[in-house]
Amino acid sequence: MKRNFVDLWDISPEEGWLILQDALNIKRGLEGEKYLEGKNIALYFTKPSTRTRVSFEVAIAQLGGRAIFLQESNLQLSRGEDIKDTARTLSRYIQGLIIRTDAHKKLEEFALYSDIPVINALTDTAHPCQILSDIFTLYETFGEDLQRVKIAYVGDGNNVCNTWLVGAGLFGLKLFVATPKGYEPSSFYYQAGEDLCKVTGGSLYLTTNPVEAVKEAHVVYTDVWVSMNQDRKEEKLEALKPYQLRAELLIHARPDVKVMHCLPARKGEEIEEEVFEAHADFIFTQAENRLHAQKALLKFLFTQR
Ligand code: CP
Ligand code: NVA
Repeated sequence: MKRNFVDLWDISPEEGWLILQDALNIKRGLEGEKYLEGKNIALYFTKPSTRTRVSFEVAIAQLGGRAIFLQESNLQLSRGEDIKDTARTLSRYIQGLIIRTDAHKKLEEFALYSDIPVINALTDTAHPCQILSDIFTLYETFGEDLQRVKIAYVGDGNNVCNTWLVGAGLFGLKLFVATPKGYEPSSFYYQAGEDLCKVTGGSLYLTTNPVEAVKEAHVVYTDVWVSMNQDRKEEKLEALKPYQLRAELLIHARPDVKVMHCLPARKGEEIEEEVFEAHADFIFTQAENRLHAQKALLKFLFTQR
């Protein structure tokens, strides 16, 4: 049966742990099988991308497959062809479809009408490949202690934040989220995360107080304040100012705190340049791990029976 990866809940906790373990084996060079031999996988992105596009294209090539990048303006979709007709056509040529777009429901429609696995490479609502990979980075760092680690997400309650709620639920993690009033994550994703926490023993805590979230945290995570497809509004930037990752805020975290950023970063906004540079090595390992985690994800999705 074909498997999609539209949201993190499309995999079970057991499958999630399997993917993390596989990603570790792949990174350590213990896995070299060409799971995508003879497979053509298309990437259809309507928003810019550096990490996701390149890491997926390289992952597909390293697994023996072929990536086809579809430019939006060159597809009949741009002239109004239905998503469901595009999905049904592409399903006759290719074996997988990786999509980055705006509305989450467009991606769901692709998934519904495709006979092949559809992977979410970011929507306005969710970024599951990012969070799966970030949890892999934490697994690699903390190993068996992962579920005891305090993780704080500080900033805008956006697609990345929404998906963190589900990721913490799926893997039974301890997540604190600090966002300003009016910029909270989606209550739907929060509920999905809570439901998973009941099964996995994870915990979610939402606050407007960044100091409370960061206090004694092992990991502090942030993302841009203005996401793709959003307008830059002064009012929002003003509300987010106390949530900037700066030295005075991080003083409340553990001295060995790991700072994470999914990138791209807007230094001086959600993170001070000095803080970014002090943690750059970890942040770029986080970026590197997109490749290893996505190879494990592709292996998982394309070896299903
Ligand atoms: N983090 C991430 O998804 O980066 P890109 O937008 O460069 O793909
Ligand atoms: N929240 C950001 C993430 C970029 C990887 C955005 O959607 O633009």
